[in-house]
Amino acid sequence: MSNRIHVLDHPLIQHKLTIARDRDIGTKKFREVIHELSLLMGYEATKHFSLEECEIDTPLGRGKTFRLAGKKVAVVAVLRAGLGMVDGILELIPNAKVGHVGMYRDPDTLQARRYFCQLPDDINHRETIVLDPMLATGGSAIATLGLLKERGAGALSLICVVAAPEGIHRIVEEFDDVDIYTAAIDESLDSHGLIMPGLGDVGDRLFGTVSPTWQGND
Ligand code: PRP
Repeated sequence: MSNRIHVLDHPLIQHKLTIARDRDIGTKKFREVIHELSLLMGYEATKHFSLEECEIDTPLGRGKTFRLAGKKVAVVAVLRAGLGMVDGILELIPNAKVGHVGMYRDPDTLQARRYFCQLPDDINHRETIVLDPMLATGGSAIATLGLLKERGAGALSLICVVAAPEGIHRIVEEFDDVDIYTAAIDESLDSHGLIMPGLGDVGDRLFGTVSPTWQGND
């Protein structure tokens, strides 16, 4: 497996993923747990950020310490489901700028179609983190990452709560410089392109647009 794929095995992440997978939790709880997962995964996905030494006056004296020294950050939410991850990342990186890319996956062909794009003007000067809870066929992520590369985005990473092997392989084939952070690589995709066992359709579960009892019935 490429060393750009990071399966985050922190116990809190794994425990919260189990809660998110549970079909019996409601919209409020699901939203909360996706938020918590985003925060924990964001913490892991920013471990490589660079630091510089600096000095600070504490209440008791002057001391050497560290502060962030790398590029500024942009987060890009893939609509709709990526919206559920934005606030968790912004709790960690409050000054990050936020872009939105709307991707609609055709239910018959599973092809991703872009219907919206608004990105920070200076995205080419920022380390960019793409947020999308599900990496299924990889079509939505590849289209989003390709668009960001066209706009000059350099250091790119993707945080997805759950990934399917198909999506991982496609991204690795297409881009050799994108880090993928996921809590789990699941078994496969079902005939609707949903990750199995996965966590259902995250967009619908976050926004309550389809009854959870529908989820996963193939
Ligand atoms: C889902 C999911 C990803 C995409 C993953 O979005 O949130 O964006 O599918 O599938 P892929 O890897 O095969 O492209 P969906 O199109 O259902 O839109 P939504 O977020 O608005 O529900």
